[in-house]
Amino acid sequence: MIAEHPPASVPDFAALRHCWHPVAYTHAVKDTPHHTRLLGEDLVIWRDSGGTPHALRDLCIHRGTALSLGRVVGDRIMCPYHGWQYGSDGVCTHIPQLEDPTKVPGKARVDAFATQERYGHIWVALETPARYDLPDIPELDDPDWVVVQAGPYAWNADASRQLENFTDFGHFPWVHPGLLGDPERPVVPDYSVTIDDHILRYDIVRPEAPNSDDFPVFGNETTEAPTRRSRYQLHLPYTILLRLGWGGEKGMVYFFASQPVDEDHCAGYVTIARNYDREQPASVLQDFEDTIFNQDQVVVESQRPERVPFDLAAEMHMKFDAVAINYRKAMREQGLAKRPA
Ligand code: FES
Ligand code: CO
Repeated sequence: MIAEHPPASVPDFAALRHCWHPVAYTHAVKDTPHHTRLLGEDLVIWRDSGGTPHALRDLCIHRGTALSLGRVVGDRIMCPYHGWQYGSDGVCTHIPQLEDPTKVPGKARVDAFATQERYGHIWVALETPARYDLPDIPELDDPDWVVVQAGPYAWNADASRQLENFTDFGHFPWVHPGLLGDPERPVVPDYSVTIDDHILRYDIVRPEAPNSDDFPVFGNETTEAPTRRSRYQLHLPYTILLRLGWGGEKGMVYFFASQPVDEDHCAGYVTIARNYDREQPASVLQDFEDTIFNQDQVVVESQRPERVPFDLAAEMHMKFDAVAINYRKAMREQGLAKRPA
């Protein structure tokens, strides 16, 4: 007789609505409305006349047209179909077909969502209060650090799979040989993970690809086999802050955030800051990240189930998978992943 397994825990969208998620790079939203999706909701992101970004449900209350096809008029967004105008709070304030266009019925409104702009991203929380603050990244506000943005990398995968892939040490030499790892040195060194509320912390000194001269190697410039000294903070649900070469003169920060578009789509934003090689064109790092993310995409899109199964009985875990083990545990403990009812 075949044992019945209960369905695995999956990301809980109701809980995730209370978290901040990236929905666009700042530079991607200019004067015209911008469509995106978050946790299965279609959103329109737009800027008022002062440049402040706002997020509304991308669905006009009148006939269900996408507001993102409309345009911004002063501090309001106007639907393309009949010209109704909505303020940043989602309230319709202007119906041009009326004798008095300001005599708007009270139910003429669309949902408005909390929005903030920080670290070069626009962030949205679908429900307030949002549970966690964004991480502190003083380097991104420091003029001595040069910032490069790569992506967003839109994958046919859940954000949880993309997040785990970014910090999965075992795959580097296999998926990125010569770029992020050395196939001659596949052993993952010991490291340990601590869980501090919604933040996982871990440091690792791991083998790095040989000859990665245009990609700096920190820690032991004197030995033949390069290593990379990495200090991680994984902020639930989908954000990673990685500092390379911390404590030394040269520093590099990776800030990775994945947008949970819906159950099987995500978009990964990679922000890199460093306080050296300031003259290097941004395209060098962007091309490198494009290569890495393209190599990962094929593998991650093949993973089944599409969403990380958050119970430890699902899949097989080794000691060197400590990040994934603790990520799954913390997501369940924080109520961000649950068994479907
Ligand atoms: Fe938007 Fe009519 S559908 S104004
Ligand atoms: Co990878």
